[in-house]
Amino acid sequence: MKPLGLPLIFLLAVGVLGVDRNNFKTCDQSGFCKRLRPFKPEKSQYTLNLDTVIVHGNVLSAEVTTANTEAEKKVPLWKYSLTLSALVDGTFRIQVDEADPIYPRYRTQLALDGEPKADGLQLVSKEGGKVTLTNTQGHKVLITAEPLKFEFLDQNGDVAVVINENSQLLIEPLRLKREKNDEDEENAENAVEVEEEGTWGENFKSHHDSKPRGNEAVSLDVSFPDADQIYGIPEHTDKFALRTTTSGEPYRLYNLDVFEYELDSRMAIYGAVPVLYAHGSKRTVGVFWHNSAETWVDVVNYADGTVVSSLVNLVTGGHKRRVDARFISESGIVDVFVMLGNKPADVFRQYTKLTGVTPLPPKFSLAYHQSRWNYVDEADVRGVDENFDVHDIPADVIWLDIEYTDRKKYFTWDSEKFRHPAEMVANLTAKGRRLVVIIDPHIKREAGYFLHEDATEQGLYVKDKDGNIYEGWCWPGSSSYLDFFNPAASKYYSERYRFENFPGTSKDVHIWNDMNEPSVFNGPEITMPKDCRHYKPPQDGQDGLASYWEHRHIHNEYGLWQIRATNEGMLERADHKYRPFILTRSTFAGTQRYAAVWTGDNAAEWGFLQASVPMCLSLAAAGVSFCGSDVGGFFKYPEPELMTRWYQAGAYQAFFRAHSHIETKRREPWLYEPSTTALLRDAVRRRYALLDFWYTLFYEHTLDGTPVTRPYFQEYPNEEETYTIDDQYLLGDKLLVRPVLEAGAKSVKVYLPGRDTNTLWYDVDSYQMHKANGYFNQEVNIAKIPVYQRGGSVVPRRERVRRSSTLMANDPFTLVVALDANNTAQGSLYIDDGETYEYKNNKYIYAKISYEPKQMTYTLVNPSAQFSSRAWIERIVIAGIRAAPRTARLHHGGRSTALQMTLHRGNDVLVIRKPGAPVSEDWSIQFAE
Ligand code: GLC
Repeated sequence: MKPLGLPLIFLLAVGVLGVDRNNFKTCDQSGFCKRLRPFKPEKSQYTLNLDTVIVHGNVLSAEVTTANTEAEKKVPLWKYSLTLSALVDGTFRIQVDEADPIYPRYRTQLALDGEPKADGLQLVSKEGGKVTLTNTQGHKVLITAEPLKFEFLDQNGDVAVVINENSQLLIEPLRLKREKNDEDEENAENAVEVEEEGTWGENFKSHHDSKPRGNEAVSLDVSFPDADQIYGIPEHTDKFALRTTTSGEPYRLYNLDVFEYELDSRMAIYGAVPVLYAHGSKRTVGVFWHNSAETWVDVVNYADGTVVSSLVNLVTGGHKRRVDARFISESGIVDVFVMLGNKPADVFRQYTKLTGVTPLPPKFSLAYHQSRWNYVDEADVRGVDENFDVHDIPADVIWLDIEYTDRKKYFTWDSEKFRHPAEMVANLTAKGRRLVVIIDPHIKREAGYFLHEDATEQGLYVKDKDGNIYEGWCWPGSSSYLDFFNPAASKYYSERYRFENFPGTSKDVHIWNDMNEPSVFNGPEITMPKDCRHYKPPQDGQDGLASYWEHRHIHNEYGLWQIRATNEGMLERADHKYRPFILTRSTFAGTQRYAAVWTGDNAAEWGFLQASVPMCLSLAAAGVSFCGSDVGGFFKYPEPELMTRWYQAGAYQAFFRAHSHIETKRREPWLYEPSTTALLRDAVRRRYALLDFWYTLFYEHTLDGTPVTRPYFQEYPNEEETYTIDDQYLLGDKLLVRPVLEAGAKSVKVYLPGRDTNTLWYDVDSYQMHKANGYFNQEVNIAKIPVYQRGGSVVPRRERVRRSSTLMANDPFTLVVALDANNTAQGSLYIDDGETYEYKNNKYIYAKISYEPKQMTYTLVNPSAQFSSRAWIERIVIAGIRAAPRTARLHHGGRSTALQMTLHRGNDVLVIRKPGAPVSEDWSIQFAE
């Protein structure tokens, strides 16, 4: 969004672009952060009452109490209930809640993909003030009763994660508001709770937060012995490896619509995924802080030069390897998952076991998307669509931003500009293309608008602090916001997506849910006031504060509730037959189950192109592999070089969409000089050539939950130089991408990992082989995209140019085999109909491809596959051949055929022409000297 009333052109002219920091809180302006950040007692005030420990099934439960010494009156005597559960796959969960709160504290609802599965938990001992437990995998937990501390031991018996090492566990108990009276004045002990400034209300700029429940913050510290770096907690524009925060602001997690967000910053932006990973050569572990309230995270990396050396020595004994982190949230309970890895891929998988994977996306959504705010009318859409064909550039999706609606009323069309939406869609689908339209969560408050009237009558809106319908300001002007926490609102919203309720749409129209932080132009920090009220299922005897949730409790998961309702609606509109595609801007833990994510309103500047790589790496590690940035930059106009480099980078990021602001110059690929258009075309075609590779990676992500886009250390966990690399990355374990992200680059520094394992990397353009040995300089001209295929891998490609991915369904494949030092290689290929759920009925092909010096095999993993494809293998390229075979014979279906081969380059690239092998059946090729 942009500030009210000021056109972008004006802002550009006076040079005031850039975030207005005054609109957003610092830790000091956020009451609970200011209050809790300095909380660092010598000793934890929390004690486990050993007599209350019970281990039953996979759960230990016990009572925890706080001390009440004179010196520590800030934490009064209070009782808490603790549970520690063992979960499958090396994961534990700790929950601490008040034993008897005056009303229930909020428990985040949608992040988890169902109830986590239990592992066995065994009590090993309870003696000497400690409880020792073990799970079925040999991990141990040591709980020290006083002061309370949890140590998690890896399978070697080494301490991997410590909780409350720094004594920062804190739960502010809920209290009843009492008016100040004479008795309190006299009774100094109670005065603390009554008087503390801000307990019952806070101000920020002109906004007042009424805080009807008072202070209810929680905090917890986590230490990672032996860790070199920690990662995670997207979404920030900072480096992928998190930095020490002691001399500045903590990282903030609070979903916000930040106009012109700034780079290299720990400020909150649109997304908040509270998961952290700690990595070192010994192990990788993680913690997931299951909390949807505003959260701040402090980090101390003892290897970081900014940490004073006396502290480093004190804490780490001088060996420097340790990272501490600390979560502070405004409300909720302490609910933390500890994931014990111990390799990076294990811990990424463990996180997706908790919060879910990205389901297999419809194939078109992995192809190229063309968007703009706005394609103004049907003729414009037709023109853009046709120009892709005129200029021979493949494209799968055209997008419509908010102006397609009847004056920002969602689920309607502008009746002048979009008179024939169904025809417009049919024009696109005739070429295998799709349409995506935007649907935001704010609803225009206009008499006669069915959605507003229904929501008002049926009580489906979020309420303000007094229980009246909340009114804010967004694109349509005065707006109210659906309360998706109310099942009736979610159901109503889902039903709006039915074809009969949204005429002009069909299964080929997909959805973009934007502004769902939610964005409120006149709200505090451009979002909803924290004291707004959300629905809570009625329960006997619960009234007043117990009868609703405040926005403060749920803020970071609001967008997730919206996309869940959208997803449900899109499934139901087509009888659960077709896979929906949804794009969301607000992100939380679990978002990946429903939607792809983009990095919001960036600008056509090199810095934003650079930031897109670590931002998406961080989101991918946090489960959201389906990530991309506005290609070309949203604000401002990209000059040809920047535009070219952005297309080249975007072609190798999961979500590949060009998008731009309404007030910027048009920039469809053909509007540049022909030489630039040619480069953009080339980048898009490269994407299409690898579409089946991407699709296979996303299929494999559904099987193992590991990121599609990977940091180097995931595959090379012992190679220390890789730990901070975030300008290059891997696609699966096969391709290495180092996009050119710098203006005027003549060469780039590419890091080739795998030195210790003699890994080879092949330039995908030339098949030139490089031995992994850290950094090397790759010369680049403007056409070069540095991409390398790992020796030991097979990558499927399709080389024919079509208008859309749908039209490529039966096109033949090229298999590129890149040999490792032992002359072997492995790969896989996944194929299905690209859009339905029939793959769940075994209607798909999943083949493993293997190359050994004497034979190459293609074997279906699901031999009884009910799916067949007319596609075939038209070429096999084998790079890194040392001794070329003399003959090759294809064996398939009981027949054997001699194949033609030619040698290329320095006789190290062998090409088998027209092997004609099918993709739907097993085959092999035998080579002879
Ligand atoms: C927001 C989105 C942007 C979109 C605009 C209008 O700023 O981030 O992508 O074009 O709203 O809907």
